[in-house]
Amino acid sequence: MIDVFQSLARRGLFLLDPEAAHGVSIKGLKTGLVPACAAPADPRLVQTVAGLSFANPIGLAAGYDKNAEVPEALLRLGFGFTEIGTVTPKPQAGNDKPRIFRLVEDEAVINRLGFNNEGHQAALQRLKTCDRKAMIGVNIGANKDSADRIADYVTGIRTFYGVARYFTANISSPNTPGLRDLQARESLSALLSAVLAARDEEAKKAAIRVPVFLKIAPDLTEEGMDDIAAVALEHSLEGLIVSNTTLSRDGLKDQQQAKESGGLSGKPLFEKSTIVLAKMRKRVGPDLPIIGVGGVSSAETAAEKIRAGANLVQLYSCMVYEGPSLPGKIVRGLSALCDREKLNSISDIRGSRTDYWAGKNA
Ligand SMILES: Cc1cc2nc3c(=O)[nH]c(=O)nc-3n(C[C@H](O)[C@H](O)[C@H](O)COP(=O)(O)O)c2cc1C
Repeated sequence: MIDVFQSLARRGLFLLDPEAAHGVSIKGLKTGLVPACAAPADPRLVQTVAGLSFANPIGLAAGYDKNAEVPEALLRLGFGFTEIGTVTPKPQAGNDKPRIFRLVEDEAVINRLGFNNEGHQAALQRLKTCDRKAMIGVNIGANKDSADRIADYVTGIRTFYGVARYFTANISSPNTPGLRDLQARESLSALLSAVLAARDEEAKKAAIRVPVFLKIAPDLTEEGMDDIAAVALEHSLEGLIVSNTTLSRDGLKDQQQAKESGGLSGKPLFEKSTIVLAKMRKRVGPDLPIIGVGGVSSAETAAEKIRAGANLVQLYSCMVYEGPSLPGKIVRGLSALCDREKLNSISDIRGSRTDYWAGKNA
């Protein structure tokens, strides 16, 4: 019955422009119209990462709930965690519309939103009303017209320190000109020094250390990956999120929409982002947490991210195609995999196919 409801709802949403459909889905979550479909709790799926206990390893990636309007409703869909943002200090409108495109045949999305968001204060006020134990991460970025981008990230840490369970410094959106340059060795080192110094100061005041993750692009050279790994380890960063959207258009069926500029996500990103994840796992060793993102559409693809070396997994685009029951389905599927393979923990498969994925070319 829930499946019938969801397939009808999805057909209706697909008649709308993608950004309008997104707004309707947020309203649905706000009003409780979207049925909750969480899977039963399974201790084999509980993961401790960067000192935090996640009820299951499947999270909602940044960009869906940019303004922290519905984080708790999203957790009720069965996600083990959700990430709000990217938020920037000042509100900003983003790029001109239309700026989100569905590639239906490819089960993909291209977006060039450009960090449209209501700014720090709006998100902060909403997060203050949430349960402090809810596993909500805050993804921080810089305003397009910022004179000091690093200062914007530092402001993000200080502003959200009391409400974020973890932070993600997003330096990998392709839609803010020059942002990805922060991935270069020296700029990244300067960014992490400033961000982690602010975190350490706040940690002293609050007597709680909130972990900081870094979200990277899938469009990196081998040398670029070497640099990020070296800087992350040097600064004792708590984790990496691999990856954001890609500028590549390889292998797409919808050649018309493929011409739109912006970042590509969804199924066609799976292979590339999983290769970069495994290559980063090889570089940073077994202990640094990695969150695998890109093209996850099923329990099998989520499990493959873990086999490639991920501690946790996130998704966004495939939920546009599969509907809000997707997280629950994936979590059930991971429990079934634990049954089949007689695993005590889903983490027992972690890294079993890192070599396979790292040996491929992204
Ligand atoms: C419409 C849209 C908006 C996004 N906005 C953000 C964002 O604000 N910050 C960010 O870090 N990632 C953003 N992303 C990237 C996703 O978080 C994710 O890294 C990427 O889409 C790959 O995962 P997926 O294939 O499961 O969608 C966005 C993705 C989409 C499709």
